[in-house]
Amino acid sequence: MNVIIRKMTAADVPAVSAIDRMSFTLPWPESAFHYEVTDNRMARCFVGETDERQIVAAVVSWVIIDELHVATIATHPDFRRRGIGKRILTEALQDGYKAGARRAFLEVRESNEAAQEMYRKFGFEATGRRPKYYKDNGEDAILMTLEPLEMK
Ligand SMILES: CC(C)(COP(=O)(O)OP(=O)(O)OC[C@H]1O[C@@H](n2cnc3c(N)ncnc32)[C@H](O)[C@@H]1OP(=O)(O)O)[C@@H](O)C(=O)NCCC(=O)NCCS
Repeated sequence: MNVIIRKMTAADVPAVSAIDRMSFTLPWPESAFHYEVTDNRMARCFVGETDERQIVAAVVSWVIIDELHVATIATHPDFRRRGIGKRILTEALQDGYKAGARRAFLEVRESNEAAQEMYRKFGFEATGRRPKYYKDNGEDAILMTLEPLEMK
């Protein structure tokens, strides 16, 4: 199976939102993805698409001057552990670098070992904690930082 990473378009939003709902206990409203793709000039959004044109992963990041924030990233549950998460995050970081970002940040649930493991592979380090950040269960967020952000 071949997966390409490309820019997200408004037409991708229903599929992206479906992956989001399968991946998170607090999914974004579909309209939020639509806003990111069509209106938010800071947002940089990518999808992974199979050769059968199925959307299997998505990432939304925001670049604000020299900082990149990974707002959300997910791979369809049926397509995990095939390297797609690493590829789409690589795209987001490289694209952010080209746009001027030199540091990257994200928040991740304390219990989300899979995602933290992926981020550590990129050099992200835990640099802070946001107590009771997640409204569903009061879980803390771990703030992870990658600095300097470099082109690989
Ligand atoms: C985190 C997520 C995006 C990873 O996507 P993926 O396509 O499975 O990622 P990859 O196959 O590229 O794996 C990258 C690395 O992450 C780590 N990883 C991924 N899933 C893991 C798991 N279940 N357990 C432990 N480590 C895991 C591994 O280090 C892996 O590298 P390896 O396969 O070489 O060992 C995916 O698990 C997901 O969508 N989770 C739900 C949404 C989510 O939690 N997003 C992050 C919010 S901060």
